[in-house]
Amino acid sequence: MNYSEHIQMLRSVAEKFSAQSIRSLMDNDAQRIEKMTVDFADIRVDFSKQRLNDDILLALEHFADECRFIEKRQAMFEGERINSTENRAVLHTALRSVHRQELLVDSVNIMDEIRDVLQQMEQFCARFHQGHICGYTNKPLKTIVNIGIGGSDLGPKMVCAALKPYHKKGIEVHFVSNVDGTHIAETLRLCNPETTLFIIASKTFTTEETMTNARSARQWFLEHCNNEEMIARHFIAVSTNIALTDAFGIRKEHVFRFWDWVGGRFSLWSAIGLPIALTCGFEIFSELLSGAEAMDAHFRSAPLRKNIPVMMALCAFWNTTLCGEKNHAVLPYDEYLRLFPAFLQQLEMESNGKSVQIDGESIDYQTSPSLWGQPGTDSQHSFFQLLHQGTHTIPADFIVAVQSHNPLGDHQYRLLANVLAQTEALMNGKTADTVRQELMTMPGTMEEKEQLVAHKVFEGNRPTTMIMCKKIDARTLGSLIAMYEHKVLTLGILWNINSFDQWGVELGKQLAKKILPELMDTTLEPQHDASTNALIHLARAWSE
Ligand code: F6P
Repeated sequence: MNYSEHIQMLRSVAEKFSAQSIRSLMDNDAQRIEKMTVDFADIRVDFSKQRLNDDILLALEHFADECRFIEKRQAMFEGERINSTENRAVLHTALRSVHRQELLVDSVNIMDEIRDVLQQMEQFCARFHQGHICGYTNKPLKTIVNIGIGGSDLGPKMVCAALKPYHKKGIEVHFVSNVDGTHIAETLRLCNPETTLFIIASKTFTTEETMTNARSARQWFLEHCNNEEMIARHFIAVSTNIALTDAFGIRKEHVFRFWDWVGGRFSLWSAIGLPIALTCGFEIFSELLSGAEAMDAHFRSAPLRKNIPVMMALCAFWNTTLCGEKNHAVLPYDEYLRLFPAFLQQLEMESNGKSVQIDGESIDYQTSPSLWGQPGTDSQHSFFQLLHQGTHTIPADFIVAVQSHNPLGDHQYRLLANVLAQTEALMNGKTADTVRQELMTMPGTMEEKEQLVAHKVFEGNRPTTMIMCKKIDARTLGSLIAMYEHKVLTLGILWNINSFDQWGVELGKQLAKKILPELMDTTLEPQHDASTNALIHLARAWSE
């Protein structure tokens, strides 16, 4: 059977079981909870409210075998160049295997290089926290501004927000990413130039947004300090491009390197995580790495049905490719995890938003859904109406911690009651009969009540996964992030795509480069379609 024939076969399995409801699967299998939940450290992942039964799982496992999942998983961990369009290995997992002795890439033992950079980070953090990194007036630096975008921003920004309870006293951290001048201007208003450390985080050190923001930060700094030599005290860099960091005026010992085998969206474990280590302490950063390393071990060894990232991928593959769902919601019931969906948007959509197979063949099945989400309970009062009664099904992950960092009265019980209620409601729905019974006790005529029935019915049978943690600490967070990273790899294997390139972001970048001079120089005639030309003319006329 070739790939398309396999998908065809899975479609017939989907067809066969399409009438089976999640609720009936739950009611008719006393072992379902045992079979469909996985415990890993202080995390329970409950897949029992997904539309999967034993036959479907068996077919999916068989499909994973046909896709050579185990072999391809091994290829990533062992540094094969699985990012074929960029001819690169994919080794973010090596960044957290700190005890591994040897891993060769181009005959170089990258484990030595990883340990060197970790040591450089640890020493810098120690000096920073002891107040030995001082600015141009010899005051210790204490405000960190990370300038980066995409993978050089979303990961560390999300982790710093998630680990706020672990922030060191007296240290502030800001993230600037948008080329909209408002972002850097508003951030600089909060900073004192005498005590601010800028981290220019860019793998390539050429990204337009980052370099524009870095130049503006540099100019702002010089306006206050008036001494170019002091740039070296206040600006450090995380990059693979040493020539360009040098040209910017950053001291060699203040460049934290990483490597082309770390993809941007997988880079928070590298020196891109420096803002995390500076804000929370190097020990907390190390905890984050160990949590991820533990999840790597689980992913490599657990049988497929008890393997959290694999099960997440099988659910997503089933919902998307076989059941046709185009969206996936991630709903953290945790204020500190509010940036988690935004981080996952890049991780999942930049990785798997592809429409050609690894060999360039076009794809006739659905790959990555649109991923989005917001914290509960707020989101219950905005878009949950559509989740419950909209015309399309939106599979969702619910994430909650039992222990709060801010135990306050009965808040946490109320939060937990809500998250449990939502997944129960999405599975069970509410039948017309139940609605009628409820309406019996209400005032109004029979006719009026009957008119309301259809509006109050919930179809139910909407698939969800519950990820319940004991508490979100650095270790648990590391495991959670790695869990989604491995889901992405697994899905890429099932979809037969390269999850590690991102050519789709290039065209817009090229065109923006062409449009920029046309906006700034009114003697140039814009060379685009009629709509774009007219808008360029309007923007020129309206610009100050
Ligand atoms: O937008 C594409 C992208 O290349 C992302 O993959 C990456 O995370 C981001 O830009 C930033 O790139 P860099 O770290 O090179 O500035």
